[in-house]
Amino acid sequence: MTEHWKTLSASGEHRVVVTKSLPGQLWLEVLQDADCRVEVCHSRTVLTGKEIRDAIGDRCAGVIGQLTEPWDAELFSRLAEAGGKVYSNYAVGYDNVDVDAATRQGIAVGNTPGVLTETTAELAVALTFAAARRVVEADRFMRKEQYRGWLPDLFLGELLWNKTVGVIGTGRIGSAYARMMVEGHHMNLLYYDPSPNPSLEAAVREFDRYLRSGGEQGIFCRRVEALEELLREADVISLHPALNEQTRHLMGARELTMMKENAVLVNVSRGPVIDEAALVQHCATHPEFRVGLDVYEQEPDMASGLSELENVVLAPHIGSATRWTRQGMAVLAARNIVGVLLKYPAWDGDDMRPFLSPESPSAAPSLVNRRTLNWPVTGQ
Ligand code: DGY
Repeated sequence: MTEHWKTLSASGEHRVVVTKSLPGQLWLEVLQDADCRVEVCHSRTVLTGKEIRDAIGDRCAGVIGQLTEPWDAELFSRLAEAGGKVYSNYAVGYDNVDVDAATRQGIAVGNTPGVLTETTAELAVALTFAAARRVVEADRFMRKEQYRGWLPDLFLGELLWNKTVGVIGTGRIGSAYARMMVEGHHMNLLYYDPSPNPSLEAAVREFDRYLRSGGEQGIFCRRVEALEELLREADVISLHPALNEQTRHLMGARELTMMKENAVLVNVSRGPVIDEAALVQHCATHPEFRVGLDVYEQEPDMASGLSELENVVLAPHIGSATRWTRQGMAVLAARNIVGVLLKYPAWDGDDMRPFLSPESPSAAPSLVNRRTLNWPVTGQ
């Protein structure tokens, strides 16, 4: 263990390793109240597999880890050998985790859904409008003191009001983004998802009725069977699928070419959903096409040429970066650890808010392999 590690509650019975320092205090109190000895890494660089194995050592009950870490079979076998029972990913996405390998070792895997829905959807909205209205280009222009006075054609962008938004993946975040765009900006909605989303469709129908009852133009919602239909018709496309073998490079050169020349493409999900080299090529040859990215194929690197493109707005994976959300994620991650160590049942509901208060239910909020582990569950 290097100088980057700090131990809290050294006399605690269950040794819990936390691979990055986390915001807030409640997460730590949750662990300490459950008699955990907490060892936190304060380094701001991503830990390698070897560094994590060394941190696990030969006695470790559980780990709170990061989406930047490769939680593979080797790490889970080390954790199991050290007596580990639970790994909690400090993220809602867990494409960095080999869940099957964890399950084979009898290790429960937790994640942190529910507290980053609106926060991440808001960033997708921010990127949508930053791209459509060229906010970052305009900001650069001002800072270079190039503004010489109002002009009729200065930084012309795209009006999104009453146009069509296409959402790929309508889980919690995709649905929240869809509603913000539909209800806030009166956009029609096309969505592409393996499963129909009746509650989203009902919300759009309800909003359509409300608009029409006030004499305004109505809007529609349609689930498309073929991605091509959405690609061709949408003015804005926002990507919200989980990353897996079906969604890796879902947006390649062929798909980009099908989109409107002046469309906006936003990605706050996972970088590899877009073929980034193809995107650079497409943006370089289609200056009216605009993009907002929060995630990258090879984070933290970017594809060559991406940062030189004026029609692309770039953010450093900050979708969930509000104080409330990041503190909430820390609390959920800690409660997953404690829930497993104290053999609580797993929560089977969607609402995570009860877990954010000190009087939390006696349950592990979100264990993704609860079914394959046959973990007992409890409802809301
Ligand atoms: C997640 O949780 O999966 C985000 O990418 C980071 O908050």
